[in-house]
Amino acid sequence: MSQKRVLITGAAGFLGSHLCDRFIKEGYSVIAMDNLITGDLKNIEHLFSLPQFEFYHHDVTKFIHVPGNIDYIMHFASPASPIDYLKIPIQTLKVGAMGTHNCLGLAKAKNARMLVASTSEVYGDPMVHPQTEEYWGNVNPVGPRGVYDEAKRYMESITRAYNTFHGVQTRIVRIFNTYGPRMRLNDGRALPAFIGQALRGEDMTVFGDGSQTRSFCYVDDLIEGIYRLLLSDYDMPVNIGNPNEISLKDFAEEILALTGNKVKIVYKPLPVDDPKQRQPNISKAKSILGWEPKVDRKDGLKITYDYFRGLPESEWTKLPKEFSSNK
Ligand SMILES: NC(=O)c1ccc[n+]([C@@H]2O[C@H](COP(=O)([O-])OP(=O)(O)OC[C@H]3O[C@@H](n4cnc5c(N)ncnc54)[C@H](O)[C@@H]3O)[C@@H](O)[C@H]2O)c1
Repeated sequence: MSQKRVLITGAAGFLGSHLCDRFIKEGYSVIAMDNLITGDLKNIEHLFSLPQFEFYHHDVTKFIHVPGNIDYIMHFASPASPIDYLKIPIQTLKVGAMGTHNCLGLAKAKNARMLVASTSEVYGDPMVHPQTEEYWGNVNPVGPRGVYDEAKRYMESITRAYNTFHGVQTRIVRIFNTYGPRMRLNDGRALPAFIGQALRGEDMTVFGDGSQTRSFCYVDDLIEGIYRLLLSDYDMPVNIGNPNEISLKDFAEEILALTGNKVKIVYKPLPVDDPKQRQPNISKAKSILGWEPKVDRKDGLKITYDYFRGLPESEWTKLPKEFSSNK
């Protein structure tokens, strides 16, 4: 049997690069695609010498041409952190809309199965807790986060339409906050922001009173869930995340204890439309995929902290200038 081929968009990013590693490990031939708008080739450079790995420097909002067969498409291209999507709002809308449309067209032409990376942000500031896949969300379309949230909601709609109208095999994963090596220290998300501040010996910034909650999933657990979803028969959205919820104040304190630094936690005003709570209901992932997270937060944080500490000091000092929320 010939080697299966998978196209991964957003391959040079945090999650895309871990997906590349996983598919290579599983024996696939990987076509990695990225325009490097927020990604970094460093995340995948260890794969460049492999004959089963190809890289296309390409913007997926433009027509996508890939010669030969494709079995699976993993559409992960999109700015994903508030700093990124507030800075490049139009590109964010375009990659969720036109980028997804182009990938679906390719999936149809190649008879490939396509999985799209959606997000817990489709639930907005949720009125239902924990969030089940049946909850439709509480999103402000004209708020600053609307460019990301609505792009992902459109992405889910067009993905369903290609499934029902064109018969394309599709999968939708709703990813909750994920962390691990290869995040960017200056991407404004809570964990790299806290670790970056600790490494630089600065006070840690918590927005609001820190009582808002998040649930953090270690990247290896997430990738396992996504891999299982791709190979499953289920074509409606599935939450993948870690239901172990923690307040941002407690999370900052855990990181403080891990780093052993003597810095203080300081509080700043809460940004607009910041979700107050986030926790996935993962009953579907458990029953359909037999999946649940395995990595304890203490272990995951240690691996991630060691990764950041191992980076050259020049990386620590790339400050997130517009840092204004704890995603
Ligand atoms: N990391 C999380 O916790 C999380 C949570 C929910 C959803 N997601 C989704 O997962 C995906 C990956 O997120 P991430 O955290 O790895 O972000 P990331 O910024 O590290 O990676 C995104 C990648 O997409 C690339 N990209 C963006 N626009 C592109 C375009 N038009 N053409 C080609 N490449 C393009 C970027 O250069 C980058 O390499 C995103 O779709 C995001 O919405 C991530």
